[in-house]
Amino acid sequence: MKIKTAEFVISNTDVQKCPNTTIPEFAFIGRSNVGKSSLINMLTNRKKLAKTSGRPGKTQLINHFIVNNEWHLVDLPGYGWARVSKTDRGKFGDIIASYLLDRQSLVCTFILIDIRLKPQPIDLEFINWMGEKKLPFALIFTKADKISKNKVESHRAAFNRALKADWAELPVSFITSSLAKQGQEEVLDYIEDVMNSLD
Ligand code: GTP
Ligand code: MG
Repeated sequence: MKIKTAEFVISNTDVQKCPNTTIPEFAFIGRSNVGKSSLINMLTNRKKLAKTSGRPGKTQLINHFIVNNEWHLVDLPGYGWARVSKTDRGKFGDIIASYLLDRQSLVCTFILIDIRLKPQPIDLEFINWMGEKKLPFALIFTKADKISKNKVESHRAAFNRALKADWAELPVSFITSSLAKQGQEEVLDYIEDVMNSLD
């Protein structure tokens, strides 16, 4: 997929106020500081479309962007620093859970994982929660430029081993670096394939 246009649409704290359209939507989520906003800028060839920060918790809203006037790209707040609550919706933050559970036009959520780290319980819990709710997702490993190629492969394998505890089949995954512009074509082509599969 070639990026022709990418524009900011609206920021919200409430899924009810998200754009009232049926165009297909792809969301990006992950722990705070994992590189969601940087990845969105890399994917869309825009330096400052999504706001990035060295400080965790920069993105606190549901941010809608429209790409090629064809699909919505959504930058979500990071999970992992929200207060843990016992309620189903509260665990990863009310805003995030309500959005993921109620947003009709959401087609696929990309869950971002920092490739430098060993499998983090919060990421595995979130992936399992998505599975329980039967929400489609794919994994994007981020910041691949920060470690050697060998480590990238061994960390990905370790993550897959952790997933195998709960999953019979491994999800689709991508290795990316926003700094080195790695993985752009693969992720965009996947989005295109998913859109083509919609009727
Ligand atoms: P929140 O909005 O706070 O949840 O963070 P985020 O997930 O949107 O992360 P963001 O894109 O703001 O990036 C966090 C930090 O990681 C910034 O300092 C980025 O420059 C850095 N970063 C993001 N992606 C990469 C990458 O691919 N390579 C390197 N080396 N640094 C990256
Ligand atoms: Mg962000």
